[in-house]
Amino acid sequence: MAVNDERYVFIVEWFDTSASLIRSYNLTYFMSDKTIEMFDLKNKRIFLKRCEYPSIQLKDLYVGSIVTVFSRQLKIVDYADVFTRSKFEVQRGKTFGMIKPDAYTHIGKIITAVERNGFVIGNLKMTRMQIGDAQQFYGEHRGKPFFDELTQFICSDFIVGLELIADNSVKKWRDLIGPTKCQVARVEAPNSMRALYGTEGVRNACHGSDAPGSAQRELDFFFSDKSNLKSTAVFNNCTCAIIKPHIVLEGRAGQIIDIILSEGFEISAMQMFYLDRATSEEFFEVYKGVLPEFQAMSEHLTSGPCIAMEIRQENAVKAFRDLCGPHDPQIAKTLRPQTIRAKFGIDRVKNAIHCTDLPEDGILEVEYFFNILQQK
Ligand code: RTP
Ligand code: MG
Repeated sequence: MAVNDERYVFIVEWFDTSASLIRSYNLTYFMSDKTIEMFDLKNKRIFLKRCEYPSIQLKDLYVGSIVTVFSRQLKIVDYADVFTRSKFEVQRGKTFGMIKPDAYTHIGKIITAVERNGFVIGNLKMTRMQIGDAQQFYGEHRGKPFFDELTQFICSDFIVGLELIADNSVKKWRDLIGPTKCQVARVEAPNSMRALYGTEGVRNACHGSDAPGSAQRELDFFFSDKSNLKSTAVFNNCTCAIIKPHIVLEGRAGQIIDIILSEGFEISAMQMFYLDRATSEEFFEVYKGVLPEFQAMSEHLTSGPCIAMEIRQENAVKAFRDLCGPHDPQIAKTLRPQTIRAKFGIDRVKNAIHCTDLPEDGILEVEYFFNILQQK
């Protein structure tokens, strides 16, 4: 293989809803010109000719990732050759990170630190553990003097679980959160999460898996289909917000979450979703025939992960719309420069955030993500 034609090949699967079939392809990524190609494994022919596809970058390619190519969501299920496996398997891995109850007000800042330190967030879920969950999660510490205090504390309020992908992810995340004891962290690693946002003892802001094996176990505990951990949505006095894929892919979701919390809104549920076209169109259906960008909006929502939230406050729908600003970021920049869309939006499709428009739809939209989609 010539040096300048270095390529990585993955096996990807696409669920063809019209035929109810899983279709398998090889997806090749060429390093020299950052192009991709797809090969249909069943029919043994090229499916997508080598072409540029800028929204797929090297950092998006790892087993378990979902990438979108021309509105098809492709799940990377394996490496297709030894070269790719050897290059990716050792270095690039997943770890599990958790924001503990004491760091609720700092969730946005911690996610921003994650994004700025080169992690990809593969999954995210806000939840609240029951005591049995906490005792199972921290089973290795059973019998230690701090076990009861630790497990009770972890159940005391909302936590956020994160699937974090990076080279040497386990060590990288533990380095970012810093030493277990916050007093030590403040001396030895003053910019670490525990130094900045922890207090003392069990109240140390973040958790990180200590080895790839425990990372997999903890990721399954949080994110597998069999997980006990439910969303924390309450479905009253609420509005629905969705941080759009362009923001998540640009690594700016933490900043928006931080603005929402700093402005005094409660984020009472939060989860990352990878929507397919049918789901995205169903969610946006009320805009069909109303907004000319309905198709483009629906397509954008499938172009990568989005983060859906239940947001609560008095008059949540109106108050939160005011924070988001006018639908069109160009208008927002002129008329409401302090709003989220003015600061983060690009155009009417990539306008950073969706928020519920009508007061009577707040609960319905939250139910769509945190009830209906949970059952699919
Ligand atoms: P974590 O599991 O939360 O990422 O923390 P870690 O590996 O740095 O520390 P570990 O030894 O696994 O302890 C788990 C959590 O228990 C609390 N702890 N308290 N009072 C104490 O001496 C003590 N020691 C540990 C901390 O909340 C620690 O994060
Ligand atoms: Mg530990």
